[in-house]
Amino acid sequence: AWINHDVYLKCLQCQNSNSISKVAYTPKNSSFSSIFLSSEQNLRPASTSALKPTLILAPFHESHIQAAIYCAKKPGIQIRVRSGGHDYEGLSCTSPSNHPFVIVDLRNLSSISIDAESSTAWIQGGATLGELYHKIAENSKTLAFVAGVCPTVGVGGHFSGGGYGMMSRKFGLAVDHIIDAKIIDVNGRILDRQSMGKDLFWAIRGGGGGTFGIIIAWKVNLLPVPEIVTVFNLTKTSEQNATQLLHKWQYIDPNLLIRPIISNVNSSQNGKITLQATFNSLFLGGVEELLSVMNRSFPELGLVKEDCTEMSWIESILFFAGIATSESADVLLSRTPLGRAYFKGKSDFVKQPISENGLQGIWERMLEEADGLVELEFSPCGGRLSEISEYGTPFPHRAGNIYMLHYAAAWGSNSETEEKLTWIRRLYSYMASYVSSCPREAYVNYRDLDLGVNNDGNHPSYKVATIWGTKYFKNNFERLVHVKTKVDPSNFFRNEQSIPPLSSW
Ligand code: FDA
Repeated sequence: AWINHDVYLKCLQCQNSNSISKVAYTPKNSSFSSIFLSSEQNLRPASTSALKPTLILAPFHESHIQAAIYCAKKPGIQIRVRSGGHDYEGLSCTSPSNHPFVIVDLRNLSSISIDAESSTAWIQGGATLGELYHKIAENSKTLAFVAGVCPTVGVGGHFSGGGYGMMSRKFGLAVDHIIDAKIIDVNGRILDRQSMGKDLFWAIRGGGGGTFGIIIAWKVNLLPVPEIVTVFNLTKTSEQNATQLLHKWQYIDPNLLIRPIISNVNSSQNGKITLQATFNSLFLGGVEELLSVMNRSFPELGLVKEDCTEMSWIESILFFAGIATSESADVLLSRTPLGRAYFKGKSDFVKQPISENGLQGIWERMLEEADGLVELEFSPCGGRLSEISEYGTPFPHRAGNIYMLHYAAAWGSNSETEEKLTWIRRLYSYMASYVSSCPREAYVNYRDLDLGVNNDGNHPSYKVATIWGTKYFKNNFERLVHVKTKVDPSNFFRNEQSIPPLSSW
């Protein structure tokens, strides 16, 4: 279906006189392009997708969203909802399958209210993690929330897919703490936990964004943290036994969260590419206590007091975002991505420790990549993450996983895209014998269209979707299809990797 932006705009105005024109941007608006790309952290999807949105709507009010849904239904136009715009494949603002679409951008629905007494928060769907963390710290020194490290990630997409962060071994994922939500469904109804029913409430906590409706708010339980936490960020080179340390790291105490990142660096001395391992950690306590745990569990790392810094939890948010802790926490309120690049990410889950030889093989492939940034992040599983049943939420990667791998390549211009994609796919292929299989599991928040797409995105097939769906959700995929069939049988909310209804055999 094709629809002219003026026709769509007219429909919105007829449906909703509540100043809707002021929040609707058509290609005729001078700010259209800047709004279109404003929150995109990844430049790759928009650079390869020729089709631009028919219109961008940045609602101030729920009724604007209801109008957007109503007006999109008749002509069969798709809605791409955008919260923080950090989807790895740009599915919140592009249509790889070239189907006409409008963007509902939730940036103006981003208020957060904290109730410190009950340790809960209502967060509107367009808020960013930075805004959430900032608001919590404004209200309390001993409350926090577990979610991702990048402050410009949006809660709309992030909580829809899981939400892993530096406290995940202690507290699990963001979705493990959602206690209520408000969603606008395909019929424009606003439903809460009670009225949406337990199946839909289960599905939206990890089943991936863009499938079941538009989340306008989440209610979460906040989590207790001490006034002082300790962080470190310790880098080891190959000469400092990075490989042996990483090998040992796979066996450490599941209550300690250390998240190593392997990256390639250009040596300033001889211009050679070398690898380094950076061991990041957040410890919920003081430095002395951390040192005694480290001496027991991971003495080989050689951590000393001087490597560690005590700080408040909100300062640790700045620290892991790569922002100086001396800066005001107000920087967390900026919605502008900290860095933009052409980018591709992929993920895996590891169930058996990888041998030193296997790790060496990874390093060799990383060293092939001379310029640009390549990174391999090891995010520990275990602890609280494994205590929750794999059926408890759609995120199934629970007990039995030691860690999640995140492969990333970033580059500076479109002309390098093919080469970098080939490189990351080759590394992924090498890893097959070291990671989960049948299915080879993946994390939906690290969205990867290489795993499969819904035909042309417009006519999804249940059979095709099973291929990528079981990687993200394992046996939960069937239940997600069942929920989708019940709440959106006509498959109105869809994208290249949304859950299809059963009718799409
Ligand atoms: P975006 O707005 O692009 O939405 C993502 C998907 O959800 C799209 O399909 C979109 O349509 C849908 N959606 C968005 N809002 C919705 C709503 N209100 N209702 C329904 N559907 C909605 N992950 C992690 O677990 N831990 C981490 O530490 C990080 N760190 C990180 C850093 C950086 C730089 C990036 C780019 C990404 C991460 N991520 C991450 C991955 C992140 O969790 C993932 O990309 C999220 O989907 C991003 O959510 P946004 O709302 O920002 O994206």
